[in-house]
Amino acid sequence: MGKYYSIAIDGPAGAGKSTIAKRLAGELGFQYVDTGAIYRTVGYFYDLVGIGPKDADGIHRLINEFVIEVVYDQADGSQHMLLNELDVTEDIRTPEISQIASQIAANPEVRELLLDMQRDVAKKYNVVMDGRDIGTVVLPKADVKIFLTASAEVRARRRYEELQRKGAKDSYEKVLKDLEQRDYQDSHRAVAPLKRAKDAVLVDSSQLDIDGVVAAIRRIAAEKLGV
Ligand code: DC
Repeated sequence: MGKYYSIAIDGPAGAGKSTIAKRLAGELGFQYVDTGAIYRTVGYFYDLVGIGPKDADGIHRLINEFVIEVVYDQADGSQHMLLNELDVTEDIRTPEISQIASQIAANPEVRELLLDMQRDVAKKYNVVMDGRDIGTVVLPKADVKIFLTASAEVRARRRYEELQRKGAKDSYEKVLKDLEQRDYQDSHRAVAPLKRAKDAVLVDSSQLDIDGVVAAIRRIAAEKLGV
């Protein structure tokens, strides 16, 4: 089996990781891997069965009782999440599941369970993988590492507008508060906290539009990979 390329994009919520990573993957012909969706699916499962994200005993008890699969639509490359064979791709995109996913992601057993799943995808495809610990833990040898960030206000504004388009009623202040809480949780947990890998290139998207960020990362990828 030949070597596959990997581009790791880490950063806080709302920095534009998924939009950028999806575009980049499309342009390069790589597979886009949204690792947050996998944590969301675990959070969704435990929420369904009434176990809280901080209940380590409850989580342990059912850790082998669900099947999560990451599948890719051959037509458009989009990622679908299956939980016990049911497609939950849309169900995991709520503000409630965002919070639950962030809390459950601090559980070491959950992180351990998902590690191989993420690495296995990178063994089968050229990937653009986005998350919080891709460059530091999941793919420490990624060919290109990007730490994508933006100010909390800019990130909250983008997330607020996205929610409004979906018809949600949350205020900007609530979105900002939720996002700051998630940032804090994601960067202060003991296992694999969100942080910039030493060899990651910092890209601040506060003043850049999507095209600008994609172009900046493509230049970095071209230098390192020749793609
Ligand atoms: O990227 P996202 O907002 O969909 O991720 C949801 C939560 O999952 C995030 O708040 C923290 C967790 N997560 C993680 O801990 N590690 C990852 N690689 C990806 C997500």
